[in-house]
Parts: sequence; C-alpha cells; structure tokens
Amino acid sequence: MAAATIPTVETARLLLRPFIVEDLEDYTHLIFADAEVMRYLPQRTSTPRERAERTMAFFNDQWVQYGYSAWAVTDKVTGQLRGHCGLNYLAEIEEVEVLYALAKPDWGQGLATEAARASVHFGFEQVNLTRLIALAVPENIASRRVMEHLGFVYEKDAHHFGLDLVQYALQRVPFQGGPPFFLAP
Ligand SMILES: CC(C)(COP(=O)(O)OP(=O)(O)OC[C@H]1O[C@@H](n2cnc3c(N)ncnc32)[C@H](O)[C@@H]1OP(=O)(O)O)[C@@H](O)C(=O)NCCC(=O)NCCS
Repeated sequence: MAAATIPTVETARLLLRPFIVEDLEDYTHLIFADAEVMRYLPQRTSTPRERAERTMAFFNDQWVQYGYSAWAVTDKVTGQLRGHCGLNYLAEIEEVEVLYALAKPDWGQGLATEAARASVHFGFEQVNLTRLIALAVPENIASRRVMEHLGFVYEKDAHHFGLDLVQYALQRVPFQGGPPFFLAP
C-alpha cells in the first residue's frame, strides 16, 4: 500500500490519517517528550525525537506490509495532531493489537474511545480480521477503560515489550448469510 493510498477515517470529532513528515515536531512534543503520556509505555534510551521519527516510519511501513497500521489522530476541525491510534501486528504472538496514545490536554473527553472504535471497525470490516487484542500495564486504568468501552474482555496476564501487561480480546461475531460485523458495546 503506497502512502497515498493509506485510508483516512473520519469520526465525529477526529480525522485519522497517515503520518506525514510535518507531524514530527508535534508528535515528539505531545507524545514522546511528555513523561505523563509515556508513563505506562515501554521505556527506551533513544531521544523523544528519535522515537517519534522511528514510530512514524514504522507505522507507515506497516501499512505497506499488512494493509493496516496506526494513523495520526487529528482534530477534524483544526487539523491539529492529537496522537496516534490504530492496529499493530505482533509477530511474536501472531495477534493484532489496538493501540492508542493521545496528548494530555485531550484526555478524558472520550477521544481515545472514539478513535479506537473506528480502528476496531476498520480491522473487522475493512481488513476482515476476526480477533483483536489490546494490551496495557495493569495500572493503566484509562487504557483499560477504553478497552472495556469497546467490549474487549480481560483474557490473561502477558509479558511483552519488557512489560508485565494485561491482555484483553475482542472477537468479531460472524453473522450467518451476511457480511461480518461485531457486537458494539
Ligand atoms: C489511555 C488514553 C489513550 C485514554 O485517552 P482518553 O481520551 O482520555 O480516553 P477516554 O476519554 O476515551 O476514556 C478514558 C476512560 O478512563 C477513565 N479514566 C481515566 N483516568 C482514570 C483513572 N486514573 N482512574 C479511573 N478511570 C480513569 C475515564 O474516566 C474514561 O472512562 P469513562 O468514559 O468511563 O469515564 C490516554 O490516557 C493516553 O494517551 N495515555 C497515555 C498513553 C497510553 O497509556 N496509551 C495506552 C497504552 S496501553
């Protein structure tokens, strides 16, 4: 999938679009340079800017490789970058996870749930995946709430990215004789 053909998705308040090089400064500052945003995410020795650059490139490469990945989450009205959200293939366990991170000023308004819901729809309805997982450190209550809002159910404890995590899962429910759909929470 060429960068130009990565789909965009519109929700009530957000536009999910591919990352572009112009996002680098904001992405660095809003996500990787903010210790509170990074609190429950894997720690690395690289600089916030290096991580932002690598993550943007990784997401766009994944689009090409799998036909799904994470988007830049932007405000539909102002166009401002707010964070990332989307799908990520975990080769080690052959699962697709939903992931999300938003800038701190945007927390608590249901925006992660809105973006993650669109990602789940995309995964089940456009990519035709049958199962998605979501991972979080147990203390990350906000992330767990997002999963629960979408109908994900706790499955087991897991260890990935050097972190002890809880794993939630959501199964697409097949509808006999019709197109696939999943049960909205
Ligand atoms: C996790 C994250 C994306 C949630 O974003 P958000 O836009 O605030 O999420 P939403 O508003 O859609 O939902 C958050 C829910 O958690 C709840 N919540 C937030 N902090 C909480 C806390 N400390 N204790 C209990 N509930 C909490 C909110 O009340 C809301 O639940 P509700 O709708 O039932 O009231 C955001 O906190 C974030 O970017 N964190 C840093 C990155 C990260 O941890 N990503 C996830 C990695 S697994």
